[in-house]
Amino acid sequence: MKQEPPPLPPQHHRKRLMVFALKKFTKPTSYFILLLLTYYLGYLSAPSSTSKKPTSTSRIPIRATATSSAAPVADHNSFSIQCVDPVNSEKVRQTVLDRVFHGISPWQNFPPAHVSTLLRQNRIKGWGSTGAVFDNLIRRVRPKTIIEVGTFLGASALHMAKLTRKLGLETQILCIDDFRGWPGFLDKFREMKMVNGDVMLMYQFMQNVVYANATESVLFLPFSTASALDKLCEWGVFAELIEVDAGHDFHSAWTDINKAYKILRPGGVIFGHDYFTSADNKGVRRAVNMFARLNHLRVQLDGQHWVIESN
Ligand SMILES: C[S@@+](CC[C@H](N)C(=O)[O-])C[C@H]1O[C@@H](n2cnc3c(N)ncnc32)[C@H](O)[C@@H]1O
Repeated sequence: MKQEPPPLPPQHHRKRLMVFALKKFTKPTSYFILLLLTYYLGYLSAPSSTSKKPTSTSRIPIRATATSSAAPVADHNSFSIQCVDPVNSEKVRQTVLDRVFHGISPWQNFPPAHVSTLLRQNRIKGWGSTGAVFDNLIRRVRPKTIIEVGTFLGASALHMAKLTRKLGLETQILCIDDFRGWPGFLDKFREMKMVNGDVMLMYQFMQNVVYANATESVLFLPFSTASALDKLCEWGVFAELIEVDAGHDFHSAWTDINKAYKILRPGGVIFGHDYFTSADNKGVRRAVNMFARLNHLRVQLDGQHWVIESN
C-alpha cells in the first residue's frame, strides 16, 4: 500500500526553516541543506497522481447503472394502465360531460361574445377526411361510440357524424385534440385569429360543429392524446370504432395506437390516416406494423388509411 507523505509545514514555517539553516551552518553546509530542503518541500507540494479527479467539464461518458442496463427492452412496449369495465354506450356522453365539463355542456351559450367576432361561420380543412374508408367502416361496424384521436377543425369528425346520421345511428363521436395544431401551422391558416399567443382552433372547431348542427353527437376532450386516452380507459369509456390521426412521428403514433387499442371494444376496428407519409421515416407505418406484429393482428389498407380489426 502506498504510504501517505507527512503533512506539509505551513508556508511561514517553511521560510523560517530556511533562514535558520543559513544562519546556523557554514556556507557550503548551508547550501547543501538548502538544496535538500528545496527538493524535499518541492516533492511534498507536487500534485499526487492518485489525487487526480475529473474536472466538471470532463467528457468521460457516464456508465449505465446496473438497474438501467438490466431493464428489458420490452419495457418500451408496456402500456400498463388497466381500464375499468366499459360503461354502457348510452352513458358515454354523460360520463364525458361530467368528468370533463362538470356536467355543463360546452355547447351552451356558444360562441361567447369575446370570441364570436374572431371566428368564421364555417372553416373546414382536412386531409383525406372524407375518404371511402369512413363509409366502409361505419357501414360495417355500425358504431355506438367513435373516438377520434386528432381532430383539428373537425373535417373527418363531421364527415363521420353525417354518415352515421344517414344510417340512422345514434352515434356519439368523441374528439381528442389539444387544439394547438403544430408549430408553424398558422403559416397555412393565416386567417385564423390569435389572441395573446392563443390560436382560435378549438373555438373554430366548435363553431364548425355548431354550423353542421352536430352538437348532439359530438363532444371533445381538449387535452393531449396520451392523457385523454388514459382517462377514458380509467372511466370505462370504450368505442367500437377508433380513428388515430394525431402526431405522425413514430413515437406519437406508437403511443396513441397502443393506448387507443385498450379502449376498443371487442370486435371493434381501429384505423388511421397517413400510412404512406414520409414523416419520421414513415413513422406511422412503422408504428402500425410493429403494433400488429406484437399483437398478432393483421394490417389492411383502404386508400391512404390503415385498418386493424380487433381480436
Ligand atoms: C392531421 S390533424 C387531424 C386531422 C383530422 N383528423 C381530419 O382529418 O380533419 C392532427 C391533429 O392532431 C392534434 N395533435 C397532434 N398531436 C397531439 C397530441 N399529442 N395531443 C393532442 N392533440 C394532438 C393536432 O392539434 C391536430 O389538430
